[in-house]
Amino acid sequence: MGFHGHGHSMLEDGPVAYDSELVRRLMKYVVPHWRYILLASIMTLGVAGSNLAGPYLLKVAIDRYIATGNLWGLNGVAALYILTHLVNWVCSYGQTYYMSWVGQNTLYSLRRDLFSHLQRLGFKFYDSRPAGVIMSRVTNDVQAIQELISGGLVHMISDVIVLGGIVTIMLLMNTRLALVSFLVLPFLTYTAIVFRNRVRRAYRDVRVKIANVNATLQESISGVRVAQSFVREDLNAQRFDQTNLENLQANMRAASLFSVFMPLVDCIGAAGISLILWYGGRQVMAGTLTVGVVEAFISYLERFYRPLQDLGQIYNTMQSAMAACEKIFAIMDTEPEITDRPGAVDPGSLKGHVRFENVTFGYDPDRPVLHDINLEALPGERVALVGPTGAGKTSIINLLARFYDPQRGRIVVDGHDLRDLKVECLRKQIGIVLQDTFLFSGTVKDNIKYGKLDATDEEVIAAAKAVGAHEFIEKMPQGYDTPVGERGAMLSIGQRQLISFARALLRDPRILILDEATSSVDAYTEVLIQRALEKLLEGRTSFIIAHRLSTVRNADKILVIDQGRIVERGTHAELLARGGLYAQLYEMQFRYQEVAGN
Ligand code: CTP
Ligand code: MG
Repeated sequence: MGFHGHGHSMLEDGPVAYDSELVRRLMKYVVPHWRYILLASIMTLGVAGSNLAGPYLLKVAIDRYIATGNLWGLNGVAALYILTHLVNWVCSYGQTYYMSWVGQNTLYSLRRDLFSHLQRLGFKFYDSRPAGVIMSRVTNDVQAIQELISGGLVHMISDVIVLGGIVTIMLLMNTRLALVSFLVLPFLTYTAIVFRNRVRRAYRDVRVKIANVNATLQESISGVRVAQSFVREDLNAQRFDQTNLENLQANMRAASLFSVFMPLVDCIGAAGISLILWYGGRQVMAGTLTVGVVEAFISYLERFYRPLQDLGQIYNTMQSAMAACEKIFAIMDTEPEITDRPGAVDPGSLKGHVRFENVTFGYDPDRPVLHDINLEALPGERVALVGPTGAGKTSIINLLARFYDPQRGRIVVDGHDLRDLKVECLRKQIGIVLQDTFLFSGTVKDNIKYGKLDATDEEVIAAAKAVGAHEFIEKMPQGYDTPVGERGAMLSIGQRQLISFARALLRDPRILILDEATSSVDAYTEVLIQRALEKLLEGRTSFIIAHRLSTVRNADKILVIDQGRIVERGTHAELLARGGLYAQLYEMQFRYQEVAGN
């Protein structure tokens, strides 16, 4: 368990089984399929009707035709009997098919809407939520709703019809015998309720335990490299064993509950049937009742229990569906915090004149991580940001790309406040190479083309050549069509970086943001990357969080950040001469690079 505490909250079903507001919103997804719902309802009537007809036909056959020796009548009823079952077959098929159609299509549109909404939500939303929980919204929770629509609702309708029908027919056929048969109902209901609650708890436990198994598994798989290098295999196996064992025990508890209660329900059912046999049989002997009626009663009672149990189930299905709805709509109600302001402009192409004016920002508004930042970058200028870890360098560029909005002050590009620019316009002209390069599974070419899908192969190759990635890509087994593996796992760090440079270059952005990775690469790749960088930065306004001496030295301006403030600014030579923080950083971080010959 340990880290996976959130596994509980996502599985905890709320106590609400019906919430009209949620249902109303859900209906928006269901109602468009009303034709199929109508068809399914008609089929449902067929299923219920044919279910009810069977025992009645038995009674007719026995009392009216067998008792009187009417062979033609008997033939007719026998044929009718098989016919009702054929009707039942066809209608059951239609009912299941149409309702699955409705359920699956609802699921499809819900997932589609949820996904596109999730894509629009900002960094802030993702900062505070584990990916696993968000994923379960799109998979498990949507599934719970589909179960209600496809299974639950239709079955509920047909169950109610069947139950009502059976009770009515029994009462009409023989009121006394009917009342005697109903004597077992209180016991049945009581058992069903007790059983239902126990089983529900047992299965909830099973779901929590299997979620823990999944969470442990997932973490162990993604962390397998670290685990092996720290020789944690045995310890992790023990931890997994524990969750795995708990899962086994939970399943066994659920299974034994089932194996106790199912036969018990059958026993109560048998008691009901023996009551009918005993009481009805006596009346048959006394001549006040026919054999056919007794047979029909037994047959009806046998058909009584399944719908009754199904109805017990519907409450659970509704409860989980409501809980799922609540979580899904909560996400849909989360407004993306970064949106186009009404009247936001799209000035076409930008020149790349950037200014920060008294910008103060914190991921948590009460805890600023940037204080009163002022800076200016002229079009085409190269600005290097340096400073100790946690100083706020990444935060500054997060603001420039408008992944967050500042709490105070403003950021201006070509005279436009970022918040007055269309988000799309801004992002289209900003190229970003993040600190941790993210490649998507797919081929090398897919990854280079990621931001410009209509790029031709020639353009892709030209971009790769420009950053010096062409050579190694050519040498790969399938060249540009080589798959890179999940997150680019099949490439070296340096290769990943070069590919992400090519990706940024292909977009030809006006403003380039580069969060240099700290990871050291071999001297050869280092030279490659340096050259690639020069090419990448040519003629663009660029902000570079630099860890390489060469990048810093070639910058037009160096800003030294410390604890959320710009503490020094100037060129390499000026700052060295000042003997301040930059000079210190230079001594510690950059000096050895010079010695190493870079
Ligand atoms: N921070 C935060 N919430 C985030 C990201 C960062 O509260 N989602 C905080 C960090 O704890 C840090 C501060 O913001 O104290 C600045 O972080 P950042 O700008 O990422 O620091 P960098 O200067 O980029 O540090 P590094 O060189 O290690 O990348
Ligand atoms: Mg950073």
